[in-house]
This record gives sequence, C-alpha cells and structure tokens, in this order.
Amino acid sequence: MKHIRNFCIIAHIDHGKSTLADRLLDFTGSVTEREKQNQLLDSMDLERERGITIKSHAIQMEYTFEGQDYILNLIDTPGHVDFSYEVSRSIAACEGALLIVDAAQSIQAQTISNLYLALENDLEIIPVLNKVDLPSANPEEVTDDIVDLLGCDPEEVIHASGKTGFGVDNILEAVIKRIPHPTGIYDEPLQALIFDSVYNPFRGVETYFRVMNGSIKKGQRIKFVATGNEYNADEVGTLKLKQFPRKEIKTGDVGYLITGIKDAREVKVGDTITDAKTPTTNPIGGFEDVKPMVFAGIYPVDTEDYEELRNSMEKLQLNDASLVFVPESSAALGFGFRCGFLGMLHMEIIQERLEREFNMTVITTVPNVSYHAFKRKDVNEAIIVNNPSDLPDPSSLDRVEEPYIKATIITKADFVGNVMSLCIEKRGLITNQTYLTTERVELTFDMPLAEIVFDFYDRLKTVSKGYASFDYSPIGMRTSKLVRVDILLNGQIVDALSSLIHVDNATTIGKKMCEKLKELIPRQQFDIPIQAAIGAKIISRETTKALRKDVTAKCYGGDISRKRKLLEKQKKGKKRMRQVGNVEIPQEAFMAVLKLN
Ligand code: GTP
Repeated sequence: MKHIRNFCIIAHIDHGKSTLADRLLDFTGSVTEREKQNQLLDSMDLERERGITIKSHAIQMEYTFEGQDYILNLIDTPGHVDFSYEVSRSIAACEGALLIVDAAQSIQAQTISNLYLALENDLEIIPVLNKVDLPSANPEEVTDDIVDLLGCDPEEVIHASGKTGFGVDNILEAVIKRIPHPTGIYDEPLQALIFDSVYNPFRGVETYFRVMNGSIKKGQRIKFVATGNEYNADEVGTLKLKQFPRKEIKTGDVGYLITGIKDAREVKVGDTITDAKTPTTNPIGGFEDVKPMVFAGIYPVDTEDYEELRNSMEKLQLNDASLVFVPESSAALGFGFRCGFLGMLHMEIIQERLEREFNMTVITTVPNVSYHAFKRKDVNEAIIVNNPSDLPDPSSLDRVEEPYIKATIITKADFVGNVMSLCIEKRGLITNQTYLTTERVELTFDMPLAEIVFDFYDRLKTVSKGYASFDYSPIGMRTSKLVRVDILLNGQIVDALSSLIHVDNATTIGKKMCEKLKELIPRQQFDIPIQAAIGAKIISRETTKALRKDVTAKCYGGDISRKRKLLEKQKKGKKRMRQVGNVEIPQEAFMAVLKLN
C-alpha cells in the first residue's frame, strides 16, 4: 500500500486535462507506440470528436522513482458541469489531485468548484500551471492567482505543458512525494467504492472501484449495498489501456469487476461493494442517485418507428444509467418518450447516439425543467410536472415551484456590468461579488435553472467576449409566477411547443416565438397563422404566407442536376420534419424558444 498513489486530475474545461494525462501515460511507458493516439482516455468516438471527456476512466501506471517501484492510479474526470456528480465520486476514490490551470486563462469557475470538491474530500492538491508553451501564457500572474487561491508557496506550483511534455517528470515526482499513500485495513470486511461503470456489449457492465478496506477476489460472492443485489465476482483486474485480470485487488488499489450484469442501472456510481457473507457495517457515505435536470420529449420522425425507438432507448439506457424515460403521447406528435437528462450537453449526446448507433431519426421537443405544482385543495402535495402540457388547470392551482441554482460566474472586471444585466434579465438575484484580483471578479446569483437551459451559455459568451466561466449547483425549489404559453399553428395548439414562462416575460417571449417560428416553418400552399396564447387569450400572431406558384415552377426546369439537388434538399429536409395537422414542422422549430432574440 505504501507504494500506491491514487490521484485524479481536476480542471476547468479545456485547460488540458486529457492531453496531460496522455503525457503521463507516455512518460511512464504505459502505452506502446501503436496505442499512441490522441486523447487515449477518451475512448468513445463522440468524446474524441467533441474533444471532451464524457465518462471518467481510470488507468494504472507503473513508475520507478529513486529505485523504488510505484503504482500510480490515475482517475480521469469529466470536465462538463452536467457530469459533476461523477467528478465528485472520482475524487472520493483518491488521496490527491492535480489541479490544472491554463497559463493563459487562469482560474475559472470549474477550477474553483472542482477544487472545493477535492478539499471537501481532504485531497492533497498539487497545482499545475499548464500550457506554459503558449505565446499568450502569463505564468507569473497566473501563478500569483493560484497562490492566492490555495495559500501555497509559488515553488509548489509546477510549470508544465501537455503539448511538449515539459514538466511531466516534476509532476510524477510530486505525485509520489506529496500525495499520501492509501490507508485501510486488509483484514477488515470488503469495502470498495464504485466510482464509475462502463457498459460493454459483450461482457456486460464493467464496474470500476477503489478498495478502501479488505480485498476483492476472483470468485468472491459480493453485494452492492445500495441495491442489495448479490453477484459473483467473475473477473477482477487492474485497468491499463487494456484490462489485466488478477486473482485479487487489495486494500488501497483500484480495479475493475465483471459480474455479468447486463443493465447499467444495477450499478450505481457512489455505491459500496462488500462481501455477501461478511458485509461491512460501514458503507461509504455520500451516496446519491443522480437526478435528471432537464426533460424533453423524443419522438420518432416516422410514427411507425415508435417500437424501434423504444428498443433503442432501452439499449441506450443499459449503458447510460443517467438516462431516464417514460412513454408519453402528444396530440401533435403521437407516441414518444419524455426523457430526463443531466443537462443540455447530455441531451445532445443522447440524441446524437440515437442517430449514430441506432440509426433513428428523432424529433426532440423543447427542453424544460421539472416543476412542482400544488393544487389549492392540497397545498402540500407536489404534482411533478416534467412536461408543460401536463400542468393542471391554472385556476385550480395554489402555486407552482421551479428549481433554482446557485450560479457562479468568473469574469473580467470590464464585463461585470454586462454579466449582471444578463443575469438579471434571466431572473437572477445577485448574492455575492468578490474581486479575486483587481482584474477578475467572481459573481454569484440565485437563478431559476430553466433560464440556464435557455440560451444562457451563448449569451454569456457574447456579453463577456468569451471571458466568463460559469458553474452551478442546485439549491432547491422556489415559488414562481409561471404561466403556460401555448403555440397554435393553423388554429391548433401544438402541445409539443408549449413552455412554462415567468408571467413578466410571457408576452415578449410569446411574440418572439411567433416571429422565430415564422422564419423556421417552411412556406406551404396556404397561409399558416402562428399564434401564441396564454389560456384562451391570444398574445401574438404572425403568418407564414403561402408559396407563390412560380417558386415551385422553378423545380421543373430542364437542368437535371439542379433538380436532383433540389430533390435531395427536400429529402434531407424531410428527415427532420413532422407533419402536424397539415403543417410541416422542422426540428429547429421545436428548439425555437431556445434561440430567441
Ligand atoms: P475536457 O476533457 O473536455 O475537460 O478538456 P481537457 O481539460 O481535457 O482539455 P484537452 O486536453 O482536451 O485540451 C484542450 C485543448 O488545449 C486542446 O485543443 C489541446 O490540444 C490544447 N492543449 C492541451 N494542453 C496544451 C498545452 O500544454 N499547450 C498548448 N499549447 N495547448 C494545449
């Protein structure tokens, strides 16, 4: 145990975590030439394409330092706020953390939020000033920022570059010298923390764990504390780029477990693995079920594909336990599913995976948060509303509550005014303003989560010229004056376009929705009135004018290639259109409310 180190890398998004992890693997000879590929730890195609780490992964390195062999377990963590629960579990499996700070960007919102998580778990923090090779790097100033934040000595900050490999030896030395070795008692009953799991279509769910006490042996009968389920440890082993089966994984070490579980939902990140016969009396605390934050309907473009969509979603759920869905029906779209996601990024990923891995073409409706509605006849019983069209009749309601978050934004002093105006427009209440340095300010707001879902990131980027970072955490439900704004096309309510909006903004947003839909809904042979309504009251109206005859006539010119192109364009358009009544609605229209302005 003395020669094991368990550590993670934490950073704000894009500060270079994955690149630096690759350099560590390189330097310790943990990868062969053939395996060298950019961003080794990001094994999903999607991750590689988007350049983000979606799931955390663990990898074991062997390193000899001053004549002694060490085992270094690196646990990579996702950087996006949607996946912050996974960061917290990875952190709990470690004794130390490399805190990576981009030498040009300095400390950002997730640098701080991840640092707090690490400090809460008593991790030893090794600050790394990364990307020192960048011409725009500002090493002195950023080192000062880090020293201010951590209260450490400037000498403790390691200068490094994931790109050139500079400083990697110093990082490894610091990992060995500064991070404490794991403690724990081999003779105690098994107690292991599940910090991640990955679905493998051939082998079932692979569970990644860290042994806190005892050991886990091949063939052992084990139990998952939270679910109470028992399994056989068919295979245990250590994780390098490949898996290496072992007879036993001992106290302090990290490994994988295969039990033949076929459903990702049976393995809960944060749960404790113990021995089935002599279970630990002391499961690892802090376990929580991950809750979806954003909901949206997913419908097949072709109504006939409903069953196939269900199959695909079930398969997807087997390997992504954070996806939840229930069947729903929409007057406009027919049969589909109401799905819960960790956040907007997660929603995009699911949609993309449905298309790529399952060849499904789907329509995703306006995302919304989960509301609590309270009827006057029972003011204490919350009715969960995950779909705006399920909101009970407003006249029967006592109140509606919506989820609030604490938003932390770090920006340059020059942009404080802009950021404040934006947050106030988004119904934020400022709760704190701190100058981190003369140049950099941290602002905190209480804000409705729903406002973050709607175009907040993009607006924040624009008003701060890119110099703002953002992080949030939920702070509970609060009462809000919300009304349902319905959209009528050709006189018919399209339920999938309804949204709950604060009463003060409802008219403006209703009007903007109509204008946007007018742009997005293709012209047809007849006029299409587009209306926004609250209850029976129409608050706005636009019209998509009928096509003029000569526009269609153009399609029938002599030029065959042009005609083909047009046809192809139409076909492509078809892919993501839904016929509602006699109006064709393209996918973008369902997202219109997110792109207003
Ligand atoms: P997430 O996994 O999405 O949180 O991002 P990350 O923190 O892992 O960042 P990643 O390693 O993907 O690097 C982000 C970008 O910075 C990439 O374009 C890298 O090529 C670049 N980058 C990383 N390290 C360095 C460095 O030391 N120097 C320079 N110049 N660029 C770097």
